[in-house]
Amino acid sequence: MSTKIDGKALSAALRAEIAQSVSAMRAEHGIAPGLAVILVGDNPASVSYVTAKERACAEVGMLSREIRMPADATEEELLAEVRRLNADQEIDGILVQLPLPRHIGEKAVIDAISPDKDVDGFTPVNVGRMMIGEECFLPCTPHGIVKLIEFAGVEIAGKHAVVIGRSNIVGKPVAALLARRECNATVTLCHTGTPDIAQFTRQADIVVVAAGRPGTLRGDMLKPGAVVIDVGVNRIPDATRERGFRLAGDADWESCSAVAGAITPVPGGVGPMTITMLLWNTLQACKARAKRAASQS
Ligand code: GUN
Repeated sequence: MSTKIDGKALSAALRAEIAQSVSAMRAEHGIAPGLAVILVGDNPASVSYVTAKERACAEVGMLSREIRMPADATEEELLAEVRRLNADQEIDGILVQLPLPRHIGEKAVIDAISPDKDVDGFTPVNVGRMMIGEECFLPCTPHGIVKLIEFAGVEIAGKHAVVIGRSNIVGKPVAALLARRECNATVTLCHTGTPDIAQFTRQADIVVVAAGRPGTLRGDMLKPGAVVIDVGVNRIPDATRERGFRLAGDADWESCSAVAGAITPVPGGVGPMTITMLLWNTLQACKARAKRAASQS
């Protein structure tokens, strides 16, 4: 039987630290970190993520501004909003909730976000900085994953990590981050073009599964004692639940938890950490603003 890696507990501890730093920013500099979240349309999963982000900001004493745009808003309208926020002195971080409606070009919108306010770590500037090991806003889910593995008491350096999934939000950046010198893992990136994923996962000390498909990882694909980080958030129809669905990860819980040494649950694993690392990045952006203001006065 494996240890459950409690993302809620780690998040609560980190958020308490962030809240203290926010109070200190207010006391010492008279400013508070400000996060703007833009939501286009009303995709139910996106609405619930955005609501959770706003609640989290309030809990740690940050300012949050929600900008809701209709599903038929144009790309130009969205770009204009991003540019307004780039120039807004009270806003340290800008997050455009993805996915966007199909008629809006995601790349154009991400490219428009100032790299100094890109608390998602999605702009080409920050992605590039991460790839070459420079200081940058680390993407939130990958950063949260590294924190969870460390929290589980597992030394990452020298381990073999297998990542399943090559999305720009999770798979590719978490593979890059685990391979950076400060993590120092050996990394294999598997995806839909990999003929036999189990051949790789059976050699892994750490498996990060971010495939967006329930049941992608099963216990018989794991080395006994491996650490499993499950990034999947799949809504499974369930008439016995009030909401009409239950959440399941990409890993089959029953079989994986019987073989793994430690595993993140869904919900309560990676999800809370993503928002916590977003708060962390917003705090760093505000600290940079305070530093710039001090150097100009
Ligand atoms: N949609 C799903 N996850 C994310 C995220 O981390 N950031 C943004 N902006 N959109 C998302």
